[in-house]
Amino acid sequence: MRIVITGGTSGIGAVACDALLTAGHSLMIGARNRTAAALWKGRGAHIEALDLASLASTRAFAEAIAAFAPVDALVLNAGVQLVQPARSIDGFDLTFATNHLAHYLLARLATPYLVSGGRVLLTSSGTHDAAEKTGIPPPLHADARLLAFPEHDGALDRDPGTRGRRAYASSKLANVMTARELAARLKATRPDLTIAAFDPGFTPGTGLARAYPGVISFAFKAVLPALRVFGGRVSTPKVSGRLLAALAVSPAYAHARGAYFAVRANQLQEKPPAILAQDAKACAALWDESAAMVGLPA
Ligand SMILES: NC(=O)c1ccc[n+]([C@@H]2O[C@H](COP(=O)([O-])OP(=O)(O)OC[C@H]3O[C@@H](n4cnc5c(N)ncnc54)[C@H](OP(=O)(O)O)[C@@H]3O)[C@@H](O)[C@H]2O)c1
Repeated sequence: MRIVITGGTSGIGAVACDALLTAGHSLMIGARNRTAAALWKGRGAHIEALDLASLASTRAFAEAIAAFAPVDALVLNAGVQLVQPARSIDGFDLTFATNHLAHYLLARLATPYLVSGGRVLLTSSGTHDAAEKTGIPPPLHADARLLAFPEHDGALDRDPGTRGRRAYASSKLANVMTARELAARLKATRPDLTIAAFDPGFTPGTGLARAYPGVISFAFKAVLPALRVFGGRVSTPKVSGRLLAALAVSPAYAHARGAYFAVRANQLQEKPPAILAQDAKACAALWDESAAMVGLPA
């Protein structure tokens, strides 16, 4: 199969790339980190420049996808978790822009290049759901305007770390809502497509905590994996990366039309997402506002 992936240079995405290449699939990896991506070039993957913090770079990557087409699966996996406020090149909140807006744009621009029965996957997180009690402050809303320009959000957290973590959880809510809304909007014209959101579970050992102070970052990257606590919501990059690869290619998941799959006890479980993500009106509003931000018609 021909698969396009973001976030393939590290963590869960890197394991998924390894599994997909080993199984003989053809990969196109969008990466800002050319050094890390070089490893995959040596294994035959196509590497294209992609900085999700820039809409121009994201559009250029979509053009590269058109050249790579036909595409069997689009795996929108990259993500950041920040603890200091920052802006994207286009002036949006960096977490919202990277995790949601750029992937929304890619989903919109690349869907026409998907084969019949093709797939769109968005890597989300259990943190999108307050009921999961992950320890990350959960989303309070999915208002795209306020997430993109948090200075206008009356409920904005004062502490930058809390603010960054809630922005992360909110962006992950947006990923789930995008998967649901994409499936809803394509129901009539592309009912063949498999569309899903993916929660890898709590997966220490990846680079996700790199923006945190040194001790926390080190604990997430090296200490927690060494404790070898598995099962429940806790996973490993190896398990979650392989399950992401399976979600991209296995016939077992072809039925998904906006479904949410979470890694629990080392397996993929289809489960209902957060109550907020089940609000059809809010999903449609997020879609429309995001369209306006990236300059596409709703
Ligand atoms: N680890 C967990 O506990 C956990 C739990 C739930 C969900 N997730 C989600 O799983 C996904 C993968 O995260 P991970 O844990 O594997 O973390 P990771 O090791 O830090 O990987 C993140 C990937 O995203 C890429 N990326 C970040 N910003 C980018 C940008 N502006 N442009 C292009 N690529 C960019 C990174 O590329 P560089 O190499 O260039 O930095 C890297 O390949 C994320 O969506 C994350 O939210 C993780």
